[in-house]
Amino acid sequence: MDDVLQNIMDHAVAVAREAGQVVREALCDEKQRDVMTKSSTVDLVTQTDQRVEHLIIQSVKKKFPTHRFIGEESVAAGEACVLTDDPTWIIDPIDGTTNFVHSFPFVAVSIGFSVDKKIQFGVVYSCLEDKMFTARRVKEHSVTENHLMLFSSISDVRRSIIATEFGSNRETETVEKIFSSLRNILNIPVHGVRGAGTAAVNMCLVASGCVEAYYEVGVHVWDVAAGSVIVEEAGGVLMDVEGGPVDLMSRRIVAANNGTVAHIVKEIDAFSPTRDDAPPTQ
Ligand code: IPD
Ligand code: CA
Ligand code: CA
Ligand code: CA
Repeated sequence: MDDVLQNIMDHAVAVAREAGQVVREALCDEKQRDVMTKSSTVDLVTQTDQRVEHLIIQSVKKKFPTHRFIGEESVAAGEACVLTDDPTWIIDPIDGTTNFVHSFPFVAVSIGFSVDKKIQFGVVYSCLEDKMFTARRVKEHSVTENHLMLFSSISDVRRSIIATEFGSNRETETVEKIFSSLRNILNIPVHGVRGAGTAAVNMCLVASGCVEAYYEVGVHVWDVAAGSVIVEEAGGVLMDVEGGPVDLMSRRIVAANNGTVAHIVKEIDAFSPTRDDAPPTQ
């Protein structure tokens, strides 16, 4: 099984690179960045998102015809997205579409692979930085990437940088909750708050020790599947925003180092989103 999984993972890395090249080229072509909207005027998609997802799925289908897919741009609006026990590729073709549209330099291709509903490996290619993060579940920690990585050992949250995002839900109540949790975090006070504009890159920043924790409500499984393995294999922890184990389908997540996770969960308690704010994808 090890060799089989490695073969699948090698293909994921290769196709992520190929996809990243398409994204880089599209950045220089205004037409490829023409904006369409989805659930709201700030929920953006471009033909490049769709093209890249198609490219990845077709490439995988040729090699692994029995595998299933959950891809952001293939899940129809309002459709339930079901994660089964079957081998499944969980794809975010462009994580950071808003960044892509604005040429803001953090844009990732994110690919997670699950079997029995457990993510077996994650590949995040931050394609404008040309950084490839990969990790697979093995006994030893196994994150690899093409630059120096120093997982953070900071346990005093007052010395931390926290990453979060504002998502694309601009309903007053949701925005209030976001700011309430942010106020708590800033009041600790932490050294700083950042957001790369992509969930996958934020998680790789945790894995790299550049930030101590990342939290967000509203994420989908394709935003966090790959990053979840990368964080855990780097030595980090995943939690629900209200504490306890994370459910990758629940649309909420905290990814952090061991030293800060409890404090962060406590401070964002004010967030306490109801299931209605962020309905689970399944
Ligand atoms: C989004 C990005 C963003 C996060 C949103 C995601 P997309 O993904 O990861 O940082 O705040 O929750 O939906 O739409 O650019 O693939
Ligand atoms: Ca999107
Ligand atoms: Ca995404
Ligand atoms: Ca996307």
